[in-house]
Amino acid sequence: MARSTLLRWAVQSLGPTMALKRSAKAGEIGPRLATDVTTWHDPIPWYDAMRAQGELYAGKVVHATASHAVSSEVLRSPVFRVGFTAESLPPVARGLVRLAFDDRYPGPAEPPSMLAVDPPQHTKYRRLVSKVFTARAVAALEPRVEQIADELLDQMAQTSTQHDSLDLVKHYAEPLPVRIIAEILGIPPHMHAQLVEWGNAAAVTLDPALSYPVFKRAAAALREMHLWLDQHLNELRRNPGDDLMSKLAVLMDEGESLNQVELCSVALLVTGAGFETTVNLISNGVMALLQHPDQLEILRNDPSLWENAADEVLRWDSPVQATARFAAEDTEVCGHPVAKGRFVTIMLAGANRDPEVFVNPHDFDVRRANARDHLGFSAGIHFCLGASLARLEGAVALRKLFERFPDLALDGVPTRRPLRVLRGFEHFPVRPRPTDLSGRAREDLRLRA
Ligand code: HEM
Repeated sequence: MARSTLLRWAVQSLGPTMALKRSAKAGEIGPRLATDVTTWHDPIPWYDAMRAQGELYAGKVVHATASHAVSSEVLRSPVFRVGFTAESLPPVARGLVRLAFDDRYPGPAEPPSMLAVDPPQHTKYRRLVSKVFTARAVAALEPRVEQIADELLDQMAQTSTQHDSLDLVKHYAEPLPVRIIAEILGIPPHMHAQLVEWGNAAAVTLDPALSYPVFKRAAAALREMHLWLDQHLNELRRNPGDDLMSKLAVLMDEGESLNQVELCSVALLVTGAGFETTVNLISNGVMALLQHPDQLEILRNDPSLWENAADEVLRWDSPVQATARFAAEDTEVCGHPVAKGRFVTIMLAGANRDPEVFVNPHDFDVRRANARDHLGFSAGIHFCLGASLARLEGAVALRKLFERFPDLALDGVPTRRPLRVLRGFEHFPVRPRPTDLSGRAREDLRLRA
């Protein structure tokens, strides 16, 4: 049934935000990170402070962890779920939770999105798309990723002869994953710009505390995207191609018990997840390497390290900062009790700086032997479906960029996207030639980015 956007915002965002702000005022770090935008610029000291309070912080509203051991255990435990059922709540709260979801145009973190459902539903959806993203299937895409990277770099070289300054996000970090995922899914090129617009508007729905205008804009983008996917799937059903979306479109005819909203949800998640995060891996990686020229030098001398470097970026400046689970029954995590119905916020980016697992965790080290142990792709049954693809795109994009423009330099202060869960850059001005910035100006840019 359709719900008014205002009502859904009040239940999904306003109510939880008020509760989180109260806990933040009382000094809890997790709620502070969720609601105070001034912490988003550099959340790492907050994760360290949270870990110093203990492996698992039992907050008033939610529990939170920045420990690698606790995060891994929660993510891998069948007791912790994503599909929040209201059964353990009092009747009024139960009614409110039912009002909170739009079952016609669900977002990436709302059921029936794969991210927001548990087995057996989750197993069914994931099986439909997983074949296309196995490590083997993805390895075959490498030449195509390289070709697209080369084309974009050619265009950048051309543009930079006319304008010294370029936006790395717009010219490279964003179009590369958009073109790849669109080709896998069979989304025509004339839709790419529209996809980016919808994806960027909807990305905020992963965040915990949204203002009404932002929530409304995201709801409108999701509605438009669902309507387009619905019509696109119908067209593909009549005239299927050889792409993933066509395979999904004909499933209903092949007797799979999936309705059109479920199909659209799978397609919407894979499309959005396919580029909204990888764009950040690429731009966060460029930033990390510009800030650490010694590490870039190591990669120049040993290009076999680029794959490890992509994992080190995922660890050091994680494109997905956090996720959450709730306990379906009374349980224990690493010896700490968690009551049924409790939410645990898992600071993936905090776990990635846990000194119990990573030696000198705040150092950016492309040779780090266990860089791949990061939780940037989560763990357990929701482990990122596109991890192999993201790793490939990240490694190829960074290597090709620095091979083509060895003297790439910042040309202004990059600005971060105003998001809590996803972390990346909105604008990233670069010039492919070296700047004549003084050492002091360079240091200033480093600190502000
Ligand atoms: C750097 C790039 C990426 C990062 C950091 C990333 C991160 C993540 C994380 C943290 C999760 C799990 C969230 C949770 O446990 O609650 C996830 C799930 C997912 N990712 Fe990615 N992702 C990336 C790229 C991709 C790409 C390229 C695709 C394209 C197919 C993709 C598709 C998915 C899907 C479909 C899920 C849901 C899996 C499930 O629920 O079983 N991701 N991703």
